[in-house]
Amino acid sequence: MVEHIDAKHVQAGRTAVEVGRRRAVELIRPMRGGSRPWLVRCDDENYYIVKFQNNPQHIRVLANEMLAGQLAQLIQLPAAKPALVEMPSALAGRLNSPLFPREDGCERCVPGIHYGSLFPGDPASVFVTDFLPDRLLRKVNLLPFLGAFVFDKWTCNCDGRQVVFVRSLADENGGYEVLLIDQGFCFNDGDWGFPDGPARSFFPRRLVYEGVRGLESFEPFLSRIEALDRGQLEACAEAIPREWCRSDLQDLFRLVEPLFLRRVKVRQFVIDAKNSELRPFPNWV
Ligand SMILES: Nc1ncnc2c1ncn2[C@@H]1O[C@H](COP(=O)(O)OP(=O)(O)OP(=O)(O)O)[C@@H](O)[C@H]1O
Ligand SMILES: [Mg+2]
Repeated sequence: MVEHIDAKHVQAGRTAVEVGRRRAVELIRPMRGGSRPWLVRCDDENYYIVKFQNNPQHIRVLANEMLAGQLAQLIQLPAAKPALVEMPSALAGRLNSPLFPREDGCERCVPGIHYGSLFPGDPASVFVTDFLPDRLLRKVNLLPFLGAFVFDKWTCNCDGRQVVFVRSLADENGGYEVLLIDQGFCFNDGDWGFPDGPARSFFPRRLVYEGVRGLESFEPFLSRIEALDRGQLEACAEAIPREWCRSDLQDLFRLVEPLFLRRVKVRQFVIDAKNSELRPFPNWV
């Protein structure tokens, strides 16, 4: 149900992640969240959670999502696939109608290209939730949380890790899969820097880390980060629409070199987190 990137797109050299360009055809519903995203159906018959260029946070959220979203695919994390979503003016106009006012009086959506995060299926046939009680959380494959941890350390995600849990509506007893979402605050949010701290990047529910026994628990994601080459990172930055960066373009490309250099420091970041006062990994002795 949760799609992973096809291995053929993850090759050495400049080959990077395939990012689809879609056209929105139907507004489904607003989602909760500081960036006021919308669930939208697109012309490929898939559904996307769309964050708009003029979202109430800032435009860098889109570049962050797109860059980090591609990096997550490169290391084959089960993260929502990123896409470019064109919003035709007729739909943008509907969003700005009195039906959907924004409290600050600003327009909700300008026509143009926005960020889309692939929704895991047809909303009529999948159940998607942000929260599972402990009893159900313990039954989930928790490895994505460990992959997310090294990824968030690498990219300096200054938000708590966010995921959704997904299962088929047809199969009430079926298990949930974890899908990583919301990379909008990677690269230290709008600051585009890497102020590291051992207490950062945790999922608020610590039971997901109970299985950690050592650095090997973070594999294969840790090694995949270390094996990335500079060209792959550059290609991900190049895929970001220029209209999202404008005068920030140089700053955006300035993220590539530190990301490349930091990939071999992630092991130490994990050890620092282990030794921090939080003691997040109770079974790593
Ligand atoms: N790819 C996705 N698939 C399914 N649901 C998603 C996806 N992306 C986002 N959502 C849902 O939309 C909600 C808002 O998304 P997101 O967290 O990215 O926006 P946000 O503006 O950062 O919100 P917040 O400020 O609450 O973090 C999520 O809580 C989740 O329920
Ligand atoms: Mg969020």
